[in-house]
Amino acid sequence: MTATPQDHPEDHLSDIADILAFYLEAGVDVAVGEAPVDRFAESAAEQARSRTQRPPAVPAPDMPPPPTVSRPQASARPAPPAAPAPRSGTLSASAAGASALVTQPPDEAVMSAREAARNAESLDALRAILDGFEGCALKRTATRLVFADGNPKAKVMFVGEAPGRDEDQQGLPFVGRSGRLLDLMMAAIGLDRTSAYIANVIPWRPPGNRTPTPQETAVCLPFIKRQIELADPDILVCLGGPSAQALLATTEGITRLRGRFMDYESGTRTIRAIATFHPAYLLRTPLGKRLAWRDMLAVEAALANGH
Ligand code: URA
Repeated sequence: MTATPQDHPEDHLSDIADILAFYLEAGVDVAVGEAPVDRFAESAAEQARSRTQRPPAVPAPDMPPPPTVSRPQASARPAPPAAPAPRSGTLSASAAGASALVTQPPDEAVMSAREAARNAESLDALRAILDGFEGCALKRTATRLVFADGNPKAKVMFVGEAPGRDEDQQGLPFVGRSGRLLDLMMAAIGLDRTSAYIANVIPWRPPGNRTPTPQETAVCLPFIKRQIELADPDILVCLGGPSAQALLATTEGITRLRGRFMDYESGTRTIRAIATFHPAYLLRTPLGKRLAWRDMLAVEAALANGH
């Protein structure tokens, strides 16, 4: 005889937990239904429904009320059937969020990001503004905003590309495997999270750790630039090619870019910026550590020189 889930419900729950853990490991982070859903039909039905539910016109205060008809209306038409209600549940809710997000044309999203970032007078305000910002669809699939870690008053700021799974779960940048390597790299020159500030160009995890699109980067860029301006470090360290290319406005590859100090216009002053290999790259390519070590020594020397 085969045991059913009802016989041992705790085994069944632990099987489900194992399957979910496996999916998470494999990078699955969005649950979607198997049957396709026609969102256009849903929104047409929604519009039709709101048309039929429009409140009756209210007479102007100085107009006499319409005459009351006491005769029964033989020809009164039955009310039209209500349009089907939108499907309830998480998927519909997120689909509604998605349509709000995708209806903003790309250029408009970048412009509203610029304006929102400009309005932030402090790092706390910037975090709150980012938390409420709806112009980047990554926000919908991420668990939470990953704003920053470390000391915002530090002289050195490290900026990575985008949070991964561990960062998404903890809400802090560089807390997974590459974060542990970053901690070692910082420790090698006497830094830790009390003496360095850490953030990412993209503050929401891209689903399955995919590469952020150019549009997502463009929308998030005004926020990280404002974050750098408000933190006002003396030295900016770009971790990896995507971070360096976004912040230093170049298409040069990281192998050529790394190890050279460049000027970065923060908005209020010029600060020194340097790019080095991303810790995740170094985990895959340990030979690169030799060059990254040189870059960290250059950061140490610049800090010792007072800039
Ligand atoms: N990689 C990044 O670029 N940032 C993180 O926070 C973690 C991994």
